[in-house]
Amino acid sequence: PRIVVLISGKGSNLQSMIDAVQMRVVDGEIVAVISNNPDAPGLQKAEKAGIPTHVVNHREFPDRESFDASLAEVVEQYQPNLVLLCGFMRILTPEFVAKFEGRMMNIHPSLLPKYPGLHTHQRALDAGDTVAGATVHFVTSELDGGPAIIHAEVPVMEDDTAETLAERVFEQEHLIYPMAVRWYCQGRIGLSNGRAFMFGRP
Ligand code: GRF
Repeated sequence: PRIVVLISGKGSNLQSMIDAVQMRVVDGEIVAVISNNPDAPGLQKAEKAGIPTHVVNHREFPDRESFDASLAEVVEQYQPNLVLLCGFMRILTPEFVAKFEGRMMNIHPSLLPKYPGLHTHQRALDAGDTVAGATVHFVTSELDGGPAIIHAEVPVMEDDTAETLAERVFEQEHLIYPMAVRWYCQGRIGLSNGRAFMFGRP
């Protein structure tokens, strides 16, 4: 499978995917990395791995629709079987999402449906939660609302800050995202009737 990755920042989840492909944990190929942010450090991670990169800067577009149309054009050039949001910080229009329905995933740093959106770790701390975690899900037009594929839980420690909790969650993110992509590339999961569906084979 051909994989296109969208990023906005650091790209640590991108790096875990690059590693998983290199180690053949994921039987696919990352054919392009696209960032809306020209300064995203993740772009260098892609270049280092020899992956073509593109910047589609949202600031150069008058509105979300025109940005998404341009982004979709670049993504479609690569004819991906799978599009991965790896810390991509722009909300996508329903038109964009529809183009890649059932073949676009996201990783989110909370146990969805808890805490969609930003500042998930601070919100978990403020609520006094004793567990936190991360979720890989199929992308639908509802923000962070698509069907979950895999969750990982971590304990919240008494002296945690948003940063220390984020670190613990990141470790899990870097494990579960490649795992979900591995399953997808093996044809073992898909989106069916609005649900994440496991195809029959152990
Ligand atoms: C991660 O916490 C991910 O769950 C969220 O954005 C962050 C991206 O980090 N969607 P990175 O760019 O992959 O390091």
